[in-house]
Parts: sequence; structure tokens; C-alpha cells
Amino acid sequence: MDLIYRPRRLRRTSSIRALVQETSLGPTDFIYPLFVHSGREVEPIIAMPGSNRWTLDALVFEVERAWKLGIRCIVLFPKIDQSLKSEDGAECFNEDGLIPRAIRLIKKELPEMIIMTDVALDPYSSDGHDGIVSNDGVILNDETIENLCKQALVQASAGADLIGPSDMMDGRVGAIREALDGESFEDVGIISYTAKYSSAYYGPFREALDSAPKLIASKPIPKDKSTYQMNPANSREAITEAQLDEQEGADILMVKPGLAYLDIIYRLRQESELPIAAYNVSGEYSMVKAAAEKGWIDEKKLVLETLLCFKRAGADLILTYHACDAAGWLNNLG
Ligand code: PBG
Repeated sequence: MDLIYRPRRLRRTSSIRALVQETSLGPTDFIYPLFVHSGREVEPIIAMPGSNRWTLDALVFEVERAWKLGIRCIVLFPKIDQSLKSEDGAECFNEDGLIPRAIRLIKKELPEMIIMTDVALDPYSSDGHDGIVSNDGVILNDETIENLCKQALVQASAGADLIGPSDMMDGRVGAIREALDGESFEDVGIISYTAKYSSAYYGPFREALDSAPKLIASKPIPKDKSTYQMNPANSREAITEAQLDEQEGADILMVKPGLAYLDIIYRLRQESELPIAAYNVSGEYSMVKAAAEKGWIDEKKLVLETLLCFKRAGADLILTYHACDAAGWLNNLG
């Protein structure tokens, strides 16, 4: 054939392929999400094979393991005892609560590990929503902010480095920035859940924390989060959310879920100069694990490919439950 261009020239050997590779993946791209509970035993999370609810002591070991693999950032999620949950989620700003205690323990052992936290009421809410639910079933935007600011301050004073407002309600980043600055936490950053969609992919996570919306007789609690999380049908709206978060002082913008939303990652990458994070959420993880258990896919190849594709789409960082496995594979440990 009489061809001038033969793109296969640059695919001929692994050396050539590496030379022209456009994106790469490494352990410092990852943020490792970890679940912690107050019980005495490490509990496997059934819907997320390979993930656990750690005890405080075991959590520190797991964080040390992640550090040795090259991971430099974790995010913590608490499973709160039912007895501590309430309508206003006040346990979220208890200075001796599970999260502040976990932060202090980790910072004592590993001060350089970056600790990200989640700011929302759902793990602490007896109604299972991210904000306070009124008696007529409305999730209250403005009335919830005071507790969220207190939650962020308690996390920052325990040593959190990055605060992640995750409730997808209005004005969170600005209010939390002001609260942090007011207490001299200018150096604590905000990683905003900027474009967080109302998604069935969060199912296993809600099982892990027992945090799904509750059905009770005394008030009409909405059964999903669609009055505050975004409609999966929308992408222009993600740009509006990104612009607002930037104006309010966000340091990093996040898209969530990740895999079915690569177009949103790409669009935000075009629209903003801030770092973009992708959240490879629980449902995405569990699907891979389930197929791997059945022997239907090659887990290592599939996970590394998926994570690389987040980078290609425009993500700088990836929150992923595969973080330790992937870091091990990238370090040629298995
Ligand atoms: C809580 C929160 C959720 C996730 C992270 N923070 C669940 C939700 O919004 O219901 C989901 C993470 C995952 O599925 O991996 N605000």
C-alpha cells in the first residue's frame, strides 16, 4: 500500500509506545478512601469485597501500608452508631467523635499523610440525608450550614488538610472558607464535590455506612437525594457549579461518580485551571470486584486501564478504593 502515514510505527515496541505515551499513572495520583467505626473488630464490607470498616488502631496500620506504597492522601468516612444519630446530625461536630480522633491518631504517626475529610450530615443523620430535613420533608439548605461549618472546624482543628464539602447544596464552599479563615485555618484547603450526581453507583457506600435515607412514620423523608445532587442528564449545570465553587474559593474541583461521567471531567478540565479530581465510587469498585470474583475479567489490567482513563479524560487526582492494589501493581509488587 502507498501510505505516507502509518500510525502503527509508533506502536511497534513497548519502548516506542512508552516514548509517545500521553498520560501516566502513579501512586501520588490517588486519594484512598477509608471507613472507620467505633467497634472492636475490623468488619468486612460485604458489598465492597476487599474493603473494611477499620477500628481506630487498624486504621493507622492501613494508612501506614498506603504510605509505604506511595499514596500520599486519604479520605475518611465514619460509620456512626445508631444511638449517636439525630435529626440535626450534631455528632458531626463532636470534638471527641470518631473522625477527629482518627485524624489525631494518624497525624501523630504519619504527620505527612494528607488527610481529607467529608463535610455532610448523612453519616450522622437519623433521617439519612446530607442536610436537616424539615417536618414536611424538605432538605434545608441554609439552616444546615451552621452545623457543616462547625464540622469543618472540628476536622481542621484535629489536623485535617483538605475539607470536602459533599452535600451538593448551595453556598457551602464560601461559608466553609469563611469559617476556616475566621479561625486562622487559612492553610486548610477545600476540595469541593463540585459536580456530584444523584447516582445509584453510591449504593455499596450507603451500605458501608448504613447511611441511606430512612423511611419513618413521623415525616415524609425523600427516598433519594435528587433535590440536592445533580440530575445525571445534565452537563452544562456542572459548569455553573464549577464557576460558583471557584468564586467561593475552592482549591480542587471534584466530579462524582467517575466512570460514566468522563465527559464531565473533560468539560471541567476545559473550563477551569484548578486541579480536577475524579471519584471512582463504590458501585464502580464493586462491579469490578464482583466480575473479578467470577473470573470474568482481569482485575489488575482492568483497574489500571480504568484509572489511566480518568487521567486521560483530564483528572489530576483519583479517589479510588483500588488505591493500594493499584499502587502495588504500579510498583511491580504483584
Ligand atoms: C456523602 C457521600 C456519599 C459518597 C461520598 N460522600 C454518598 C452519598 O452522597 O449518598 C459516596 C461515595 C461512594 O459511593 O463511593 N455525602
